Amino acid sequence: MEKLIEEKRQGECLYLPENSAAEKKLYIESYGCAMNFSDSEIVASILKDLGYRTTQLLEEADLILVNTCSIREKAEQTVRKRLELFQSVKKINPGMKVGVLGCMAERLKSKFLEEEKIVDLVVGPDAYKDLPNLLQEVSDGRNAVNVILSKDETYGDVSPVRLQSNGVTAFVSITRGCDNMCTFCVVPFTRGRERSRDAQSILQEVNDLWNEGYREITLLGQNVDSYLWYGGGLKKDFIKASEFEKATAVKFADLLRLVAKAQPKMRIRFSTSNPQDMDLEVIRTIASYDNICKYIHLPVQSGSNRILFEMNRRHSREQYMQMIDQIRTIIPDCAISHDMITGFPTETEADHRDTLDLMEYVKYDYGYMFAYSERPGTPAAKKLKDDVPDAVKKRRLQEIVALQRNHSLFRSQQQVGKTFEVLIEGESKKSPAHWMGRNAQNSVVVFPKENHQKGDFVQVKVESCTSATLIGKAV
Ligand code: SAH
Ligand code: F3S
Repeated sequence: MEKLIEEKRQGECLYLPENSAAEKKLYIESYGCAMNFSDSEIVASILKDLGYRTTQLLEEADLILVNTCSIREKAEQTVRKRLELFQSVKKINPGMKVGVLGCMAERLKSKFLEEEKIVDLVVGPDAYKDLPNLLQEVSDGRNAVNVILSKDETYGDVSPVRLQSNGVTAFVSITRGCDNMCTFCVVPFTRGRERSRDAQSILQEVNDLWNEGYREITLLGQNVDSYLWYGGGLKKDFIKASEFEKATAVKFADLLRLVAKAQPKMRIRFSTSNPQDMDLEVIRTIASYDNICKYIHLPVQSGSNRILFEMNRRHSREQYMQMIDQIRTIIPDCAISHDMITGFPTETEADHRDTLDLMEYVKYDYGYMFAYSERPGTPAAKKLKDDVPDAVKKRRLQEIVALQRNHSLFRSQQQVGKTFEVLIEGESKKSPAHWMGRNAQNSVVVFPKENHQKGDFVQVKVESCTSATLIGKAV
């Protein structure tokens, strides 16, 4: 039993405050992107209405849900390992049910039930409102599957239960799905076509969060710049909208303005931006409002024009560099981060050097870097051979990671001596005498607690740094 408890501590377990009135116990854990963590808060809300309270103890759970990620093969292997562990828990607690949510559920559908005998329930990202019916089927002794993707589901009417929250920062989802069809990416297949959430319901959630004490929100979507609310429905059906719907439609820049004005003291972040959908109006809007954070996560994936084309990223390296120049001109203190993939099919040493060269040009504040992982069913898997040897992918990955480390240190060093407004998120992991927070550029800042409190905005002067952390003192 001790081993199980240890395993549980290592997992990313989410839990709710105790609620003695409820009887059934839910153990839920999430993998992958912020959207999955946000979706688990929606699932917890739907299950709360069915009388479930969450537990951190696997072995006492009536229901285990695992919200899964399919983005790379490794993410799926992690989930398979967890299912093995759940199998051993089920031996102790045979009445326990196990459900798989999220992208793996959508990708594998009912095949999951055959491949993993322990699984009772398979629910795709658009079917969470069907959980009450599905759980009824399971309790009647049948396996249950719903992986239907929706044209209009955004869960805008579900008020999320904030799981393992620091009480200061929260995610607010604004779009679901993605229409971009980057050839390496499984997301358009697992999360369906793109649709946006009603701007009014987003504003309502942001206002509620402020009243509950939250001080920073991150607007979430696979491709936030593509946000378009015109009364509901798929983004691709906007052309069929009425003249009135077209005239009153809310774009991403409009949404940013609405949110920034509704709560002028709430910090606003957003993620993720695909360069092909980000425009000057968005960049100018970020510059115009003090409470919109000066930080843009702008994945590029490769610095080679040929590879960008093969990836169906619809911009060139030159257009990307021009966008970086525009950001730096319009928002001089803006931090920029990236996602990069090494070893995409057909990538040569020359393509890889183009990536290193682009990184050298931008000198990103930080980045997320990955070796290409072929995903079944994607356009790249169908038309290109995964022909870069693993050792080459890994070596290229190490090279970009090392270069990024240098750039992160360079960017951190540039901040030493400057004073930033920092929002305190909680205690520093390394020292109980220090607070940890972030500045508007999203750098982690650590400083002595003195008499400041979690959730406070504090002016901090940076005195030293590592590549990932600024260290300072409140002034
Ligand atoms: N639209 C979101 C989510 C993309 S997935 C975004 O832009 O952030 C997050 C990152 O995972 C991608 O930007 C990409 O760098 C990486 N990724 C996606 N599919 C991948 C694959 N098949 N192999 C390796 N990395 C991948
Ligand atoms: Fe994937 Fe490209 Fe969309 S990376 S989520 S298809 S923007």
